[in-house]
Amino acid sequence: MSNEATAQPVCAVRARVDACTLVCREHVAIECVVDAFPPSAPGQFLQLLCRDSEAAVSALVEWSDECRPTLSDKDLRASAPFLRRPFSIADQWSTPGGDVHVRVLSRAVGPGTRWLARLRAGDTLDITGPLGRGFRIPTDDAPLFLLGGGVGIPPLLYLARRLHELGRRNVLVCFGARTRDLLPLRLVQEPACDATPTRCVELPAGAPYSAIVAGDDGSVGWRGSVVDALRAWHARHGRGDHPAVVFACGPEAMLKAVARTTRALGLSCQLCIERQMGCGLGTCLSCVVRVRDAVQPTGWRWALACQDGPVFDRDDLLDYAAVPGA
Ligand SMILES: Cc1cc2nc3c(=O)[nH]c(=O)nc-3n(C[C@H](O)[C@H](O)[C@H](O)COP(=O)(O)OP(=O)(O)OC[C@H]3O[C@@H](n4cnc5c(N)ncnc54)[C@H](O)[C@@H]3O)c2cc1C
Ligand code: FES
Repeated sequence: MSNEATAQPVCAVRARVDACTLVCREHVAIECVVDAFPPSAPGQFLQLLCRDSEAAVSALVEWSDECRPTLSDKDLRASAPFLRRPFSIADQWSTPGGDVHVRVLSRAVGPGTRWLARLRAGDTLDITGPLGRGFRIPTDDAPLFLLGGGVGIPPLLYLARRLHELGRRNVLVCFGARTRDLLPLRLVQEPACDATPTRCVELPAGAPYSAIVAGDDGSVGWRGSVVDALRAWHARHGRGDHPAVVFACGPEAMLKAVARTTRALGLSCQLCIERQMGCGLGTCLSCVVRVRDAVQPTGWRWALACQDGPVFDRDDLLDYAAVPGA
C-alpha cells in the first residue's frame, strides 16, 4: 500500500471562492483558492465554517436561574450553524504560480449546506484541513474499482485524479444516484444501460477511466444500485487472476451492501464512512465507530471516524461485519 493514508499537517485558512456552481438539482461545486495548503490524500476531509466568520453566532440570550430563555422554532431555524461541517475533498491541485485550488461538492440538506449554496465568486470561506486518513492505494497492479453513491461521490473523484497522476491504468469507476438529476457529475456522453463501462463521465485532470453510471429509477445508465452494477460487472469481467480492490463511499445502507457483496465476491474493500461529526478533530467523540482489535479482551475497541478514518478497511469495521444469512 502507498502512503496515501499518512496523516498530514493540518491548517486553518480563509480561502477565496473562485466559483460556486450548481452541478445537479441539490449539489453545488465550490472551488476555492488559497496561497498555501498542505498536500492531502483522497478520502481526507475539510471542516468548513458555514456562516460569515465575522457574524455573531446568534443574538446574545439573557440567561439566569429565574429567567430561562425560550427559543421558538423560528429562533432556532434563524441561527447560523455554530459547528463547522465536514466535507470530503472532491479535488485539489496546485497552479504553476503556487496557488492551491480546493474543490468540494455540497448537497443542500440543512442550514450549513444551504449557506454554502449561496456562496459567490469573491466570497471568503474558512477551511480547516486536511483531516482524517485517506484511501490506501495498493502498490501492486490489482484492478481498482471506485464505487460512489450520491453524496459519497466526491472523494472518489479526487481518488481518480490521484490514480491518474500515479499512472494507474487498470481503474474502473462506478457512480450512482437515486435519479439522473441528483447525480453530481458532468456526463460527456450517455452512459450504457447494461453496465458496460464507457468514457461517459468527466473526471478531474482528464483521468481517462471508463465509468458505469447507475440510477435507481432507470433515468440514467444502469437501472439499479451501484452494488447491483458491481455484481453485473464482476459476473462478466471480474474473474481475472487479480481480484479487484474496491474503494467505496456513500450512504450507510449502500456501504453495508458493498461490504456484504465484496466479501461474497472475495474482493478486498476500503470504506469511506460519513458519521455525524461535531469537531472533526478528535475531541467531541461524536463520531465513534467499533473496530476490530485482537488485543482487547472483547475483540474490539472504539475508534474515531474523524481521526482513525473516515477510510477504514471493510474487515476492521465491526458494524459492517458479515451478518449470518446475509
Ligand atoms: C467525513 C465526511 C465527509 C462528508 N462529505 C460530504 C461531501 O463531500 N458533500 C456533502 O454534501 N456532504 C458531505 N458530508 C455530509 C455533510 O457534512 C452534512 O450534510 C452537513 O454537515 C449537513 O450540515 P447542515 O447544516 O446543512 O445540515 P444539518 O442540519 O446539520 O443536517 C441535516 C440533516 O443531515 C443529517 N446529517 C448531517 N451530517 C450527516 C452525516 N455526516 N451523515 C449522515 N447524515 C448527516 C442530519 O442528521 C440532518 O438530518 C460529509 C460528512 C462527513 C462526516
Ligand atoms: S468529530 Fe469530534 S471526535 Fe470525531
